[in-house]
Amino acid sequence: MIEPVPLADGVILRPATKHDAEPLLRAYLRNRDHLRRWEPRRSEEFYTLRGQAHRLKDLLEQQAAGRAVAWVLADGDEIVGRMTLNTIVRGPWLSADLGYWIDAGYTGRGLTTQAVLEVCRIADQDLGLHRIAAGTLLDNVASQSVLRKAGFELYGTAPRYLEIDGRWQDHRLFQRILNDRPAR
Ligand SMILES: CC(C)(COP(=O)(O)OP(=O)(O)OC[C@H]1O[C@@H](n2cnc3c(N)ncnc32)[C@H](O)[C@@H]1OP(=O)(O)O)[C@@H](O)C(=O)NCCC(=O)NCCS
Repeated sequence: MIEPVPLADGVILRPATKHDAEPLLRAYLRNRDHLRRWEPRRSEEFYTLRGQAHRLKDLLEQQAAGRAVAWVLADGDEIVGRMTLNTIVRGPWLSADLGYWIDAGYTGRGLTTQAVLEVCRIADQDLGLHRIAAGTLLDNVASQSVLRKAGFELYGTAPRYLEIDGRWQDHRLFQRILNDRPAR
């Protein structure tokens, strides 16, 4: 059971629930311009309640199957950011991919760095993972700064790695090794 964690300024990091589709839609509508450069192109369906409910259901099903864990950053009833561990792989890898964003009105306060550190702690202590990976666009200096502050190291650059904002774009690849426990 993953518990809510207070961050700063009244913002909490808590597990996403099936009731989050409406506040998530409001957050994506508010942040459409803020996120455009850094995310895949979104369909019109994405900006509907139906679209958000469908995506959330899919993610929570992946979570129930042990392949993902989804959090939101919440300020009261509003969602002001997300953290997601995707592609959780066990066996001798014990690895997951991390994705995140924060509302344009909440940047520059250290909230994302704090949330990434908490996700690493939970991934290590509660999920029993060994490694978390994250990729950023070459010019996403803010995200690279978050990862470095949270103990990630750069381990390479992957050409045409991910389709972001309509183009296959090169990415800087980061990882954080969480522990050296043996894989069981
Ligand atoms: C990247 C993002 C999550 C950072 O969130 P945040 O809450 O502002 O992060 P923090 O406050 O914890 O740290 C941000 C760091 O980036 C730095 N920074 C911010 N904008 C910057 C810029 N344009 N150039 C250089 N550094 C920048 C800040 O100074 C800070 O570093 P510092 O503490 O060493 O000064 C946020 O900007 C965002 O949601 N961007 C759009 C989506 C996105 O890029 N997601 C990640 C995809 S990999």
